[in-house]
Amino acid sequence: MKDVAQLTVEEAKAELARLAKEIAAADGAYYQDDAPDLTDAEYDALKHYNAAIEARFPQLVRPDSPSKRVGAAVQSKFNKITHRFPMLSLGDVFAIAEVADFVMSVKRFLNSSENIAFMAEPKIDGLSFTARYENRRFVSGATRGDGVVGEDISENLKTIKQLPLVLPPDAPEIVEVRGEVYMAKKDFLALNEKNAADGGKIFANPRNAAAGSLRQLDPKITAARRLSIWAYTWGEVSVPQWQTQAEFFQKLQEWGFPVNPLNKICYSLADMEANFAQMMEIRASLPYDIDGIVYKVNDIVLQERLGFLTRTPRWAIAHKFPAEQALTRINNIRVQVGRTGVLTPVADLEPVNVGGVMVAHATLHNEDEIKRKDFRIGDMVVVQRAGDVIPQVVEVKFDKRPVDAKPYEFPHRCPECGAHAVREEGEAAWRCSGGLTCPAQAKEHLKHFVAKEAFDIVGLGDKVIEEFYDDGILRTPVDIFTLEQRNGTMATPDLFAFAEESGLHIEQRSGWGKASAQKLFDAVNARRKISLPRFIYALGIPQVGAATALLLAKNYGSFAALEQEMMARETAKLVTIDGIGANMAQDIVEFFNEPHNIGAIAALRKHVIIEEFVDDEIKDSPLSGKTVVFTGTLEQMTRAEAKAMAQKYGAKVAGSVSAHTDLVVVGADAGSKAKKAAELGVKTISEDEFLTMVK
Ligand code: IVH
Repeated sequence: MKDVAQLTVEEAKAELARLAKEIAAADGAYYQDDAPDLTDAEYDALKHYNAAIEARFPQLVRPDSPSKRVGAAVQSKFNKITHRFPMLSLGDVFAIAEVADFVMSVKRFLNSSENIAFMAEPKIDGLSFTARYENRRFVSGATRGDGVVGEDISENLKTIKQLPLVLPPDAPEIVEVRGEVYMAKKDFLALNEKNAADGGKIFANPRNAAAGSLRQLDPKITAARRLSIWAYTWGEVSVPQWQTQAEFFQKLQEWGFPVNPLNKICYSLADMEANFAQMMEIRASLPYDIDGIVYKVNDIVLQERLGFLTRTPRWAIAHKFPAEQALTRINNIRVQVGRTGVLTPVADLEPVNVGGVMVAHATLHNEDEIKRKDFRIGDMVVVQRAGDVIPQVVEVKFDKRPVDAKPYEFPHRCPECGAHAVREEGEAAWRCSGGLTCPAQAKEHLKHFVAKEAFDIVGLGDKVIEEFYDDGILRTPVDIFTLEQRNGTMATPDLFAFAEESGLHIEQRSGWGKASAQKLFDAVNARRKISLPRFIYALGIPQVGAATALLLAKNYGSFAALEQEMMARETAKLVTIDGIGANMAQDIVEFFNEPHNIGAIAALRKHVIIEEFVDDEIKDSPLSGKTVVFTGTLEQMTRAEAKAMAQKYGAKVAGSVSAHTDLVVVGADAGSKAKKAAELGVKTISEDEFLTMVK
């Protein structure tokens, strides 16, 4: 980039034209495709350069200048909503000296010599939304779009559980609450992990995952993704009831909106600086991404006096963190084997400091991702911490590629057990075909079995499992329950050499003693009786996490009932459970039809008692034991609330109407489900009748 001070008028004109084009292209990639092609730092640099030229040559500002746009154009596939009050953007700065300039300019504008209080808020790295309430009911929601016209995402927003659909009686008749939709780091990682295994899209960072999840024409997809919100500003309001930003936050909380507890009033530049430093420090440990701090004049009267520039308020600014990226080398690419046999490629990196954290490894997700980005051993790559927990390799610096670097060939054999790997049609992941004969899979399976949400056996940590496995003490879950019985005796012949020769003496192992061995046996004995959801989860059925295990427990009540129907491949009931899709149902049935699993379960049941599932829901309600389906738009509560309420009163909630359905709650504009209920003669009731039933 040329020095702005040296530019001639002609050169400046040409540069502005080029920048408008480049930034528009980058916006498209970022906003439309959720696939940025520039790093944030590169993009910010372009925008700053554009702003600097415009500052020197105001007469050259183009009608299509990126400084006049907040985001990209509205996509045609969503309805458009014109914001009654535009959704603004913020000017951003990187240095504390620029924050000082901002504070000075505010004071100068107000002709004030007094200290001005600023609300300092973490700048959430998501996408902004506006939610409109009329007569205290949610009526519509939109994205920012270009700031003037956004996309109608009412149905999608409604799926976010943190968003209240009804406001309390003291809220204004009309109010638009605005804030940020984001995806928590752990939800982002889980989504990418799942998508890496079944061929879905790998998102570059939580922001893109949030955008991709929110802007879905099918709100069901949005609902299945975990999105969160923070509320932080307002649009139209019939009667404002607050005098400061702090009072507004108070109101928001009273109305049920999540308000970031890290928002903090600063009374001086020193406060702002200290707060910024502190946020930089805790940034990596926050469960969501932030990319800076937003400062807002706290007093609303002053905000109004300050007003707006074209697209940004004079009373607020964003103080951005330096980009968390670094350049390093891929020293090696190796493949890890997970519990279900998925082979995950991992890059071993030359250790590098990324925003204060040393990074030495990063996942490369799957074969396609490696091919698409052409990662090779020896490459210099840009590493970024966006989902902070696991760093990402963003791109290769091709100009630095060693001449002898060869394309990476994904192994077609399991690196742990040598069994051949398979990649099924429609899947992105290669899987080791060794099953539990693969030591890596077997170890991960054991770790899962004793994990906190499963059997929760303290004393059997990852390291102990690895050692016990390698020494032939533990090979399958049932071995855990025969440990004490086998200790001090000769080991069973199917276990390995170590124990066979000397007998099993855990207390004689290094790091163990009589007391610790006994403690382990006690911990195991304490788990010989186990709740049904824990047991189901512990089995490690593909796709069945703790939440699904709970659903299965609720719907089947006993393990025998579940096992019987699954072994008989009777899926009629299974597929009506809301939250269990066809694909998952198939995995569950397959699991129960695999002889090895049947054997393992039978062996376990000789040692553990699986309790029947007792719900702590309210009994003797007109809903207990009933299977309920909700359809149409509910007016007084969200679908999620309604479901939770029905479950609390003992009902099972199904996603579709069948002969098993007892009751269909019909909201506004109900479609095929209401029709089906009529055909099958299933009782239907209105939302009001449902509410009276549970009250
Ligand atoms: S206030 C007129 N507060 O940053 C003020 N924005 O660069 C409008 N953002 O479009 C925005 N956290 O998507 C505000 N605490 C916060 C924010 C925040 C994140 C985003 C928002 C906005 C963008 C501006």
